[in-house]
Amino acid sequence: MAKISKTAAKERIELLKKELERHNHNYYVLNSPTISDFEFDLLMSELQTLEKIFPEFAMADSPTQHVGSDLNAAGTLEFVQIPHRYPMLSLSNTYSHEEMAEFCNRLEKTTSRKATYSCELKFDGTAICLTYRKGKLVHALTRGDGTKGDDVSRNVVNIRTIPTVLKGSDIPDEFEIRGEIYMPFEAFERLNAEKADKGEEPFANPRNAASGSLKLQNPEEMKERGLDCVLYHILGENLPFTTHSEAITAARSWGLPTSEYSEIAQSVDEVLAYIEKWDTLRKGLPFATDGIVIKVNELDLQRQLGMTAKSPRWATAYKFKPEQALTPLLSVDYQVGRTGAITPVANLEPVPLSGTIVKRASLHNLDQMQLLDIHIGDYVYVEKGGEIIPKITGVELSRRPADAALPDFPALCPDCGTPLERDEDEAKHYCPNSNGCPTQIKGRFIHFISRKAMDILAGDATIEQLYDKGLIRKLQDLYSLTKEQLLTLEGWQEKSADNFLQSIGKSKSVPFARVLFALGIRHIGEQNAKMLASHYGSLDALMDSPREELLQIDGIGDVMADSIISFFDDIENLATVEKLRDNGLQMAIEESGTSRLSDRLAGATVVVSGNFSISREEMKALVEAHGGKNSGSVSGRTTYLLAGEKSGPEKMKKAASLGVKVISEDEFYSIIKG
Ligand code: IVH
Repeated sequence: MAKISKTAAKERIELLKKELERHNHNYYVLNSPTISDFEFDLLMSELQTLEKIFPEFAMADSPTQHVGSDLNAAGTLEFVQIPHRYPMLSLSNTYSHEEMAEFCNRLEKTTSRKATYSCELKFDGTAICLTYRKGKLVHALTRGDGTKGDDVSRNVVNIRTIPTVLKGSDIPDEFEIRGEIYMPFEAFERLNAEKADKGEEPFANPRNAASGSLKLQNPEEMKERGLDCVLYHILGENLPFTTHSEAITAARSWGLPTSEYSEIAQSVDEVLAYIEKWDTLRKGLPFATDGIVIKVNELDLQRQLGMTAKSPRWATAYKFKPEQALTPLLSVDYQVGRTGAITPVANLEPVPLSGTIVKRASLHNLDQMQLLDIHIGDYVYVEKGGEIIPKITGVELSRRPADAALPDFPALCPDCGTPLERDEDEAKHYCPNSNGCPTQIKGRFIHFISRKAMDILAGDATIEQLYDKGLIRKLQDLYSLTKEQLLTLEGWQEKSADNFLQSIGKSKSVPFARVLFALGIRHIGEQNAKMLASHYGSLDALMDSPREELLQIDGIGDVMADSIISFFDDIENLATVEKLRDNGLQMAIEESGTSRLSDRLAGATVVVSGNFSISREEMKALVEAHGGKNSGSVSGRTTYLLAGEKSGPEKMKKAASLGVKVISEDEFYSIIKG
């Protein structure tokens, strides 16, 4: 690494930490990475080096010291979080044969005798930890933050290859087995084709599809996804094995899915030969792999080597480098997204890469451009990383032309000319002219009509057409469109006009939570809209909410709270909301269809959490049937936290701190029976 001053190092460390945390969140929580694993590992390794040179800036909160977390923002999805019995670690990694050989040589200096190595494929999916007791599956947890994971058992039991009951003999009384849930290419392609048919955003790669599917709220939907599993690590007290491979062979005999591609290597050379062999052969596998994992096979030697805070010292991963191309950067365009976010897009000298010709690549944001130190005319490395759109991962400085100039990041919106803004905590620049910028207006309509929002039968082209003809500017304009107007437009006929208008009419009965999502408040996604709807019950209550109350809702942080407040501070948004209300859209949760059984819960707000003898939905219906109101999160206004089995620990903690009464299922029945 070139010499760097202390001040510059401090700044760089802060930037790298922020960037790495953001990418961890994109990868593990949103299942939507914006950089490839290789780029991520490069940033991580730079941070590690800087922290080594400047230990005074190496803090415990650094991403070099903890694994990325897949835990959803508390309360956004209803999975109970359970502590891991043994921490669930990550693996150190390398991209070079030399470093791999060094790893083995160094390790052999520490162990009391020679080690052998289990060489395995590194399956590219999402980690899972299964616990079996007396031969039965007790639960399945995601890695979470490494110390606690989401309990996804109800989804995992729908994976055909995972047995809920083991067969065979000598099964330990209790053990954990860890592995990877992955989506084979065939299932991935089928899923994306279905998504395309429905006009939904496809998954960028099988890994994202696997982890997104594992966290689906509806186990039935997840059943259709064709997930598979491979298990590769057994843990427990006093297990009767002396080697890792022996343990895996036993697991296979109990009916657990294990890899058929593992081999034992006696030496570093054999390890490297395995790597070389699979670097080619993996291309013919029916599932994605992102490298090779090497593990010391002898369990006593594993114990001797131990682990660091983040990974075991007895294992490491060799990662395959993604295919790259080197090509000149011709220019940069700046695109405006539907929420006003500006994305720089590189125009490249066309170059072949993994079977297609690449002409454009994403540069994400100004930080990313600065991180790459990219200049127009530079030879740049292009990669198809985790995503569909290729991106620039590096610059070949040795080929920088003398006249190479820094690209001019625009000060004004390329679409409407408004000065761009950037919030302190955000990577992207935004055009603030949300009510006047054409791309944003059209984008708002496209979001509003989408399936998960108002579900109006129309595509992007219809919105373009209606906008271009001046028929729509504000969301409410959709509701005053007439058949005569539509029939004047190119390509419209009686039938298509009728269908479109009928679908607009039908959208008036779309429930409040989806209307709230459809409004397109920045940062408020589908799940947050659901939570807000169930907490407040109506748009009026939400609009009147003080900031402090918004912040009390699990999952709503400063950025979202500010966004909600500024949305309802905008006079044009208020006018739109009122016009939509006049048109008959649902601006409050509809009273439940269940007839009123009693008023014993009148005025009470109940938070239902955990598992009961009836489903959670039925429980909530009972609350309403007895005059109570349901809420998704515990706050000062909560009357009861109705806690079933495995009730959310965060909710319990919050109830205790706020003095909210926690009641059991039986106590609940006593209350409603009077
Ligand atoms: S062993 C304590 N073996 O790769 C180490 N991991 O980047 C336990 N992975 O967190 C992991 N294939 O999710 C191991 N054959 C394999 C693997 C594997 C994929 C994943 C696993 C791990 C990640 C590290």
